Amino acid sequence: MVSADRTEHPNMPASRYEQLVQSVVDYAIYMLDPSGRVVSWNPGAERIKGYRAEEIIGQHFSMFFTPQDCADGRPERLVRQALEQGVAQDEGWRVRKDGTQFWALAALDVIRDEQGQIIGLAKVTRDITDRRESALQLDAVRAQLFQAQKLEALGQLTGGLAHDFNNMLTIIISSARLALASPDPARVRRMIEHILDASQRGTELTQQLLTFARHRQFDVSLVAPAELVAATRSLLEHALPRDIALLDEVQPDLPPIEVDAGQLQMGLLNLLFNARDAIGERGTIRLAAEAVELAGEVDGLCGAYVCFEVRDSGEGIDPQVLPRIFEPFFTTKAFGKGTGLGLSQVYGFAKQSNGSISVDSTPGQGTCMRLYLPTHQPGARAQLNR
Ligand SMILES: Nc1ncnc2c1ncn2[C@@H]1O[C@H](COP(=O)(O)OP(=O)(O)OP(=O)(O)O)[C@@H](O)[C@H]1O
Ligand SMILES: [Mg+2]
Repeated sequence: MVSADRTEHPNMPASRYEQLVQSVVDYAIYMLDPSGRVVSWNPGAERIKGYRAEEIIGQHFSMFFTPQDCADGRPERLVRQALEQGVAQDEGWRVRKDGTQFWALAALDVIRDEQGQIIGLAKVTRDITDRRESALQLDAVRAQLFQAQKLEALGQLTGGLAHDFNNMLTIIISSARLALASPDPARVRRMIEHILDASQRGTELTQQLLTFARHRQFDVSLVAPAELVAATRSLLEHALPRDIALLDEVQPDLPPIEVDAGQLQMGLLNLLFNARDAIGERGTIRLAAEAVELAGEVDGLCGAYVCFEVRDSGEGIDPQVLPRIFEPFFTTKAFGKGTGLGLSQVYGFAKQSNGSISVDSTPGQGTCMRLYLPTHQPGARAQLNR
């Protein structure tokens, strides 16, 4: 490959470099003069872009860019950046000789002579259209899966919620009837207060449902852990059997985290549904959140994290099964009871948010799942892996 900041390797004559470059067909490798005109061309460039050497040498490399990119001054900007900083990288659509387009990953490096004078630019371009398309497809499948999972989780919640809404409507209707029939203004006032109270609770519940169900993907924002735990708790409260107690324990003044709130809520619901299923009829689930400082003990993570813990008094996980629980579609539940996607969603979400999930389980005693998410560091948003 052409190496930057050097014309010739001491142990390799120029012709050997030439031979090397001329044998590469997967990469377009060519040289530009400092104004951006093509001065050399290799078979990879011919294969990717469609031009033969004699057609292209002497032409300005902006002819590989789309008209929109040319109008935006993108080719000139890249040359300027390479000349000023020694290197420039770019990813985007490029146009072949036949007018078709490909998605290119390109690097421009400055080449200097022995006196340090800039004599040109080495350009290496790769056609990564396939890679980009598979990444886009993967994103689309992930988004579909997320939607399907949300629908399933909503389905699980609906029974309890319908019951709860019914209770609120009963309060509203009977209080309104009593108020209409009562001649006592103090009693009428009390009834109206009951109506307001019940309607208010109904509004809060629908708000929480809407936040969860809204069609959003990878929508990262600052989230207050305590509020999210409270909202999740009130969603789930009505979907648990009467003899399963849900306790929460949230450390006061937790720092905010920067995640997708809908995905986090679904992750917690998945952990809570698993806890419910592991308990069966009677037991406790503890949902806790605390700030922790990690030094590599969990998945090599270091720094400030918020740890969400879901601990249940259920049947625990068989050590033989344990290594497989995060695999997509792995389930020990009966047909129709589980799809085996809950934990893989939580795992994917944790990784995508630069966090991790750990599990601790003793058969017969219970399970504790811990989800670690980095606390928000002002100015560090660019590091988020989305
Ligand atoms: N708290 C828990 N206690 C005991 N076993 C658990 C617990 N959480 C997960 N598991 C085990 O891990 C398996 C995989 O869990 P996961 O949430 O991915 O799928 P699922 O619950 O079976 O189905 P789905 O979540 O798609 O409805 C479960 O089938 C169960 O065997
Ligand atoms: Mg599950």
